Amino acid sequence: MFHSIPEPIQARMHVLEATDSRDRGDGTPRMERLRQVPPETGRFLALLAASAPPGRVVEIGTSAGYSALWLSLACRATRRRLTTYELLPDKIALARETFAAAEVSDVVTLVAGDALLHEGVGGGLDPIGFCFLDAEKEVYAEAYDLIVPQLAPGGLLVADNALSHADDLGPMIDRALRDPRVDTLVVPIGRGELVCRRTDARPEDGPGA
Ligand SMILES: C[S@@+](CC[C@H](N)C(=O)[O-])C[C@H]1O[C@@H](n2cnc3c(N)ncnc32)[C@H](O)[C@@H]1O
Repeated sequence: MFHSIPEPIQARMHVLEATDSRDRGDGTPRMERLRQVPPETGRFLALLAASAPPGRVVEIGTSAGYSALWLSLACRATRRRLTTYELLPDKIALARETFAAAEVSDVVTLVAGDALLHEGVGGGLDPIGFCFLDAEKEVYAEAYDLIVPQLAPGGLLVADNALSHADDLGPMIDRALRDPRVDTLVVPIGRGELVCRRTDARPEDGPGA
């Protein structure tokens, strides 16, 4: 997966890495920045997504599509599609540019709108094999409640900023650590990734699942 990153993906990753690092240093207002994960987190996400059980692969918070490019590598490797959700029009436009330039439309679908209102994330569709949650921290608790019941057995929910926003996310992280439906760990990579793996079968999957 990492030994043969296609050139269009690699080129677009480099453009976004340079933009993100410039904006973090030059005083660009927070909401205008890409606020994307660092490369090592992108690799970690791709490894986890490629190891996740069958099911939907979703991302809440696309920004310009940097983490989605890493997830696209996992999707190509496992013959799945990523559905990634973004609210803001300027980020949606950038993400469209990213996915066109990186030539990943075969594995990436961008949905413009609020992931938490969209029936695709919360609705009773196929179980989720892998979800990356990287939106505003105020919605993490609501997103957790929406996603965990949708996870396939062995399915993964990964949430960013578990260390960088430990105070804001503390109550949600404590809840995840005590939740018997998931095995949970905070991994000190990048800004801290909360990793939850669904342990039990979903009631709707029936006995023996
Ligand atoms: C930290 S950035 C995402 C960075 C991206 N995951 C990456 O690493 O390249 C968070 C993004 O989530 C978007 N967002 C926040 N709440 C959302 C929601 N409810 N549905 C969809 N997108 C949301 C914001 O507009 C913002 O662009």
